[in-house]
Amino acid sequence: MKLLVTGGCGFIGANFIRYYVKKHRSCAILNVDKLTYAGNLQNLEGMEERKNYRFVRADITNAAQMRQAFRRFRPDAVVNFAAESFVDRSIAAPAAFLKTNFLGVGVLLNCALEYGATRFLQVSTDEVYGSILKGKFHERSVIDPSSPYSASKAAADGLVMAFHRTYGLPVLITRSSNNYGPYQFPEKLIPLIISNALNHQKIPVYGDGLHVRDWLYVGDNCRAIDLVLHKGRTGEIYNIGAQYERTNLYVVEKILRILNKPLGLIEHVKDRPGHDRRYAVSITKIKKQLGWQPSVSFEAGLSKTIDWYEHNRSWIENTRTGAYRSFYRKYYSGLGLKNF
Ligand SMILES: NC(=O)c1ccc[n+]([C@@H]2O[C@H](COP(=O)([O-])OP(=O)(O)OC[C@H]3O[C@@H](n4cnc5c(N)ncnc54)[C@H](O)[C@@H]3O)[C@@H](O)[C@H]2O)c1
Repeated sequence: MKLLVTGGCGFIGANFIRYYVKKHRSCAILNVDKLTYAGNLQNLEGMEERKNYRFVRADITNAAQMRQAFRRFRPDAVVNFAAESFVDRSIAAPAAFLKTNFLGVGVLLNCALEYGATRFLQVSTDEVYGSILKGKFHERSVIDPSSPYSASKAAADGLVMAFHRTYGLPVLITRSSNNYGPYQFPEKLIPLIISNALNHQKIPVYGDGLHVRDWLYVGDNCRAIDLVLHKGRTGEIYNIGAQYERTNLYVVEKILRILNKPLGLIEHVKDRPGHDRRYAVSITKIKKQLGWQPSVSFEAGLSKTIDWYEHNRSWIENTRTGAYRSFYRKYYSGLGLKNF
């Protein structure tokens, strides 16, 4: 099989490629990534030595580049991870989110149709459902996104389904909860806590910190995506979650305790506008239809993650470039956080 992966130099994409090449040794992979600030070739170090893996630097919103990649590689299947993925940045500057997360998906769908891909898996998010205070969203729940990021992902889900209904494209959508694990860019909560704590820097926590997320170890998500890609029913959506709900504050305090750092590093900042209070998805469908369930406990996943960041401090420093620093200095000082 030939698999075209987009966004493979980002967090989940890189973990997925590493997982996939071990599991499906004869499969050829083409990784298409623009290498934005979040894409990092180091995430796939060693991979270029494999005969059946290739990387192309290209932009999914560029139709000519994508047509060339599809024409040359002729993939049987496509998994689209490529996205602008950080909610805070979508609030500060939404345009890139609309372009990549919606228009880019349109370009990929057109190519998949034109070059006859037999599976197209769109990696979406539980954030498309919006906030829920009690109960859980299932795959047929109404989507009600709150941020420009989640709205762009929700719009893309609509387009993916439209290509299925209108042109018969064999599509699949996964909507996972918050992932954590190695190679996650340290603007997202868990790697931000770990890397700031290791550097004895303040840790910004939005509002009261009681926003609830369901923390999924990235390896479990990769396993689920692989299963949906191969065994999922086309035209269907699959929620993926760990069923491990905790508040942001709980997660920050837990990591500080593990690292033996003072809770005084926590600094509450002005809440994020439109901040969803709780995300929660039911995973009954993927459990019943595909037999998937999470296998890594939060304790085990967190311990692997902390260990990885402790042993890869230069990776952290390489991601925190001048552009990163200037964006966040401005962003967090606007929220009232000093000494970031
Ligand atoms: N991280 C999470 O907790 C989470 C949860 C649910 C869903 N998702 C979804 O999973 C996918 C991957 O998320 P992630 O956390 O790995 O993101 P990430 O930001 O770490 O990686 C995104 C990758 O996409 C690439 N990219 C961005 N724009 C591109 C473009 N125009 N053309 C080609 N490549 C481009 C970047 O260079 C980067 O390598 C996203 O679609 C995201 O919406 C993430």
